[in-house]
Amino acid sequence: MKLHYCYFSFFLILIILELITTSSLAYAFVSTDYYHSKCPDAEAIISQKVSEWIKKDPTLAPAIIRLHFHDCAIRGCDGSILLNHTGSERTAFESTTLRGFQLIDDVKFELERRCPKTVSCADILTAAARDATILAGGPFWEVPFGRKDGQTSLAREASMVPHGHENVTALLEFFQARGLDMLDLVALSGSHTIGRSTCHSFMDRLYNFNGTGKPDPSLNVYYLKLLRKRCKTELNLVYLDAITPRTFDTTYYTNLMRRVGLLATDQSLFSDVRTAPFVEAFATQPFLFNSQFAVSMVKLGNVGILTGSSQGEIRVNCNYVNAA
Ligand code: HEM
Ligand SMILES: *[C@@H]1O[C@H](CO)[C@@H](O)[C@H](O)[C@H]1NC(C)=O
Ligand SMILES: *[C@@H]1O[C@H](CO)[C@@H](O)[C@H](O)[C@H]1NC(C)=O
Ligand SMILES: *[C@@H]1O[C@H](CO)[C@@H](O)[C@H](O)[C@H]1NC(C)=O
Repeated sequence: MKLHYCYFSFFLILIILELITTSSLAYAFVSTDYYHSKCPDAEAIISQKVSEWIKKDPTLAPAIIRLHFHDCAIRGCDGSILLNHTGSERTAFESTTLRGFQLIDDVKFELERRCPKTVSCADILTAAARDATILAGGPFWEVPFGRKDGQTSLAREASMVPHGHENVTALLEFFQARGLDMLDLVALSGSHTIGRSTCHSFMDRLYNFNGTGKPDPSLNVYYLKLLRKRCKTELNLVYLDAITPRTFDTTYYTNLMRRVGLLATDQSLFSDVRTAPFVEAFATQPFLFNSQFAVSMVKLGNVGILTGSSQGEIRVNCNYVNAA
């Protein structure tokens, strides 16, 4: 009897330990009212600043959403993409077209003035991505707060982020490794309803696709002509959504159904039988897309986060780890 009880408690402790070390429990440490007593105006300060910047330069809305994705994709949403030391992710070749750092620095400056050493850079970037989505015409969601900032950022890890040439299996594996599923992949790719890409990211589709000597057969011929005209050099910028480039809507998905997806990875979401049904569902049901996008963004924002007193820090300047 006593022995059984002993075994039982032993296993109970094991299970609890496993729960604590599993990142999913980190969700328990973030909450929407995290700053309510520590810095009641934090969210308002962030959205005020984000709105000022994006009104002046609307291209910052997609830039901030992408910055948040790149932050979460490597070492979780820990603000590591913002670190600006030699050899950090931000300095990697793969990060050269990331933008919006100054906006985050400006928000941080204001927050340090109002609530010193309280609001993490990771939380600022997460909330800014939500605010940028709304300003582009997308859905609202409540952002859980309480992320800490990481102290490690390595340039070589930046190449792990998908760059537009992967197949759906590779994309799914990348997402699954971060606790995100197929629905999240298709919904979050919907951010490509706004913003731009350099021609560098899809140039291979235009002339000699995959060594065939012909363009990518999954490209609409009129769209192909347009892209050839727009891409005189690899550095030219092209809208990811050719039809409504500045509006956060479901045109990204209807484009895919007409072979008007810009990146090979975008178009593959419609060619692959596993993801095509989700593309069709979002193309025809904007309400479904908006609600799923909100759910998937909350999940993205919770990937690999640092919480609890022993993890990470609240950076004073988002560009540098705090001095010891
Ligand atoms: C599914 C895998 C993904 C791939 C392969 C991918 C790839 C890319 C590429 C190649 C660009 C253009 C970069 C350039 O050449 O300048 C881009 C831009 C962008 N991506 Fe993604 N992306 C993916 C997922 C995501 C996710 C999950 C989000 C957000 C939640 C996102 C948001 C954006 C935004 C908003 C832009 C436009 C940035 C701007 O206009 O400054 N992407 N993406
Ligand atoms: C980031 O680092 C680069 C290169 O060292 C430097 O030119 C730039 O001023 C830095 N930006 C900030 C905001 O510190
Ligand atoms: C997809 O990409 C992965 C990784 O690059 C590769 O190993 C795999 O063979 C590819 N699958 C298909 C069906 O092309
Ligand atoms: C590209 O070529 C490789 C090998 O030559 C092949 O395995 C792959 O399926 C091709 N990809 C596409 C999208 O045609």
